[in-house]
Amino acid sequence: MVKKVTVVGAGNVGATAAQRLAEKELCDVVLIDIIEGIPQGKALDLAEAAPIEKHDAHLAGANNYEASANSDIVIITAGIPRKPGMSRDNLLATNKGIIKSVTKEVIKYSPKAILIIVSNPLDAMCHVAMEESGFPKQRVIGMAGVLDSARFRAFIAEELNVSVENIQALVLGGHGDTMVPLPRFSTVAGVPITELMSAKRIEKLATRTRNGGAEIVGLLKTGSAYYAPASAAVEMAESILKDKKKILPCAAYLEGEYGISGLFVGVPVKLGKNGVEEIISLNLTAEEKKALLKSAVAVQELVDAMKKV
Ligand code: NAI
Ligand code: 2OP
Repeated sequence: MVKKVTVVGAGNVGATAAQRLAEKELCDVVLIDIIEGIPQGKALDLAEAAPIEKHDAHLAGANNYEASANSDIVIITAGIPRKPGMSRDNLLATNKGIIKSVTKEVIKYSPKAILIIVSNPLDAMCHVAMEESGFPKQRVIGMAGVLDSARFRAFIAEELNVSVENIQALVLGGHGDTMVPLPRFSTVAGVPITELMSAKRIEKLATRTRNGGAEIVGLLKTGSAYYAPASAAVEMAESILKDKKKILPCAAYLEGEYGISGLFVGVPVKLGKNGVEEIISLNLTAEEKKALLKSAVAVQELVDAMKKV
């Protein structure tokens, strides 16, 4: 049976995710946005590229949610992005309202869908979506770790002048300045980078990773990154649609894992047809655990701040 994915928000991340989903022929795609004509126009444009790109995915655009009915996955990218000088947290109040209203509509038409949240501030928006949907924790997942890890992987490959395909890396924690790149779990063809680079060189790459979003905002000036974020969301969707059971770092609702409870934090999870099928518990060193807990505190502060706006 053909799978169906709805992408809410037909802006930079949403439209690029729709393109990647269709061009990988993973599913039919519905694009939804509040701006009239934008989702329809982008879906039509992408459909007209299909004969050249050689796929038969069906694409549709809409301003309401009827077209999204019975989606297997809904990727939520609706909201405002960062501009220079803004942190992800500056988006809190506006995007909270948007995610609340979007989730309400989404679940009316797709009560069994798995939600992949992209809108920032990511970890807090996952809380909004889970609360508003009432979905079980397995079906509300935040996209951040795949992106942050991909950035770390790209920087490691560049630094060592090796193929990106040889690099695995892990970045855990919240999607903010406190995120936790884990060099011990980052490898080149299976060799930990701690054996290939000095601690100082690794820290330089980790710092660039933590600032990865801001680096792109500084260059683009009118918005934030979207090619890599779209790739990251689609990698998660693919693992779910094909029941691949990939282990990917995602924002998942923790209930005691890593000593964290009642909070969405980036950890390695197994993604399959049921969503988060397992949370992988790593044996962290005291220092790594301390950094993860510090990041969890930052997420908790954000969630608390959100309750006041
Ligand atoms: P964008 O401005 O290009 O697109 C956002 C779209 O959402 C716009 O087309 C807008 O009309 C639409 N929208 C706003 N309110 C809506 C509503 N109520 N219903 C439906 N659509 C609505 O922004 P971009 O670059 O696509 O980023 C989207 C969000 O994703 C931002 O919050 C951004 O910060 C976040 N983001 C998160 C990343 C992550 O790692 N989790 C990475 C990149 C972006
Ligand atoms: C990023 O990391 C803005 O969260 C977005 O690029």
